[in-house]
Amino acid sequence: MRDMGQIRNIVILTGAGISAESGIDTFRSEGGLWEQHRVEDVATPEGFARDPDLVLRFYDMRRAAIQTKQPNPAHYALARLDNEWPGELLIVTQNVDDLHERAGAKRVLHMHGEHLTAWCPSCDIRSPWRAPLMDRPPCPVCQARTLRPDVVWFGEMPYRMGEIYAALRTCDLFVSIGTSGAVYPAAGFVQNAVELGAETLELNLERSQGSSMFHETRLGPASELVPQWTQEMLR
Ligand code: OAD
Repeated sequence: MRDMGQIRNIVILTGAGISAESGIDTFRSEGGLWEQHRVEDVATPEGFARDPDLVLRFYDMRRAAIQTKQPNPAHYALARLDNEWPGELLIVTQNVDDLHERAGAKRVLHMHGEHLTAWCPSCDIRSPWRAPLMDRPPCPVCQARTLRPDVVWFGEMPYRMGEIYAALRTCDLFVSIGTSGAVYPAAGFVQNAVELGAETLELNLERSQGSSMFHETRLGPASELVPQWTQEMLR
């Protein structure tokens, strides 16, 4: 790795693994969400058109569940880094929970959307949302009963890609935490970062599909690896 003293701009990509120790299911582990549910049924626009009740119930349960969970030491360590790091820093999360924010992080971008907002396709406005959507409540802005989870489904475009690629272009260090590297475009960020000359570090429980692309991979639970790494950065 390059001398940490030369690092100024950091992009951090997080995935379900950073919230696993908070008790939120990952997607691809044994017994994970995608073993319990078919992606086509609950995470595609076609699945929603076919059986909206099933999809709304699925997200209502997950929205309720995340509100009972708490950030873990990995979220708190990233929040501290965010608050104290003098250079550019962006936490790009694939997670739809709000644990980064609840730990105190500010520079967070949810590329796959958020459980705690609802999107109204009728007026295209996103509203803060904590309650169920199953009963088709009216949109607080236009009153249409068309609210859906503000979550990016397969076949839909992730959010704010321009901002993400701009941050990748100027970062000196790209760090990937708790993601399997199975879903693009996020899985391709490490390659972008390498091509643009950044250092790359992976922190994950096990080797991921993209591990060989990183300059360094550290294996272990996020609650241990992330505080160790942020401590090194802030030394
Ligand atoms: P995955 O479930 O695919 O991968 C989670 C990763 O976290 C795996 O590599 C695990 O080894 C690792 N992991 C598990 N527990 C960990 C721990 N305690 N500490 C560190 N790492 C741990 O989840 P994602 O990569 O986030 O998209 O999945 C990416 C996208 O696929 C999600 O955003 C979601 C899903 O389909 C959409 O729904 C659009």
